[in-house]
Amino acid sequence: MGFPKSTSDVALQWTMEVFNGLRWFPNRNVPCEPGEAGGFFVSAQNFPFSAYLKPTKLDGRPRAAYEKIVSDLAYKIGVLVPPVLLYKRRDAPRGEEINTCVSLVSFPVIVPWRVLEEIKAFDHLDEVKEALGRYVGIVALDTYVGNDEDRTNLKNIVYGSESEKETDLISLDFSNALNYEGKWNDNRSGAACFPKMPERIVDAAKLNRRIVDATVTNIENLEECFINHIVNRIPDEFLDSAEKQVILNGLMVRRALVRRILADHLA
Ligand SMILES: Nc1ncnc2c1ncn2[C@@H]1O[C@H](COP(=O)(O)OP(=O)(O)OP(=O)(O)O)[C@@H](O)[C@H]1O
Ligand SMILES: [Mg+2]
Repeated sequence: MGFPKSTSDVALQWTMEVFNGLRWFPNRNVPCEPGEAGGFFVSAQNFPFSAYLKPTKLDGRPRAAYEKIVSDLAYKIGVLVPPVLLYKRRDAPRGEEINTCVSLVSFPVIVPWRVLEEIKAFDHLDEVKEALGRYVGIVALDTYVGNDEDRTNLKNIVYGSESEKETDLISLDFSNALNYEGKWNDNRSGAACFPKMPERIVDAAKLNRRIVDATVTNIENLEECFINHIVNRIPDEFLDSAEKQVILNGLMVRRALVRRILADHLA
């Protein structure tokens, strides 16, 4: 379980950085269905992997910062989310966001969950069923970061494969997490609830409580200095200091809330 051999070093590297010096160009060969934030696939010279750049929409929401913070948390607690770097898009067309991020396309073959359902892969393919069993830590991560994204729309989970042995489900899209719509303001970050998840994932989480519980333990053990580090290293233009304070407070307080919420929903 984890990133395939081909991208594991880059994934680790990206968690240690906020930016790197690469200049990204639209990758017109790869079709995409941009979501609400807008975005497109990109490549960079002398870099072997592509990435997804978002957001393009300019609405003042700190989407890029949220994506970066959650991907760093996910890596630490062992939930598969593509590594993210912030990217200052100096060539952004007028009216598009300059403060963006890139999310690494971490497996050579990516299959949307929707397609897995269409081909009934969960019923017939052992490697897909096994990947689902390993994937259930996502319920702990989404609860912890307050991800409001409705995962039952099946758009934000993809299946990655490198070979039959190196396959896993991967979660995307955390721009509706953390203090999205100010829901953690005024010390309200303690209002944690169970995320909207496909039945199939809830059932798998009930069957694989050991994996869910291990992820919860990793969340509870997140050190204050690590949380401070990954939030405070985001430049103010991507996340202003008042917002950083709210997010820091939320991430500290919520570590202790996840276990009980999951116990209530996965009994
Ligand atoms: N790292 C990645 N690897 C593979 N595919 C990706 C990756 N990042 C994004 N994509 C593809 O691009 C689509 C859009 O990405 P994403 O869901 O992050 O943006 P969005 O829906 O525009 O976000 P928002 O919820 O902020 O509006 C995904 O559903 C997926 O198909
Ligand atoms: Mg999306």
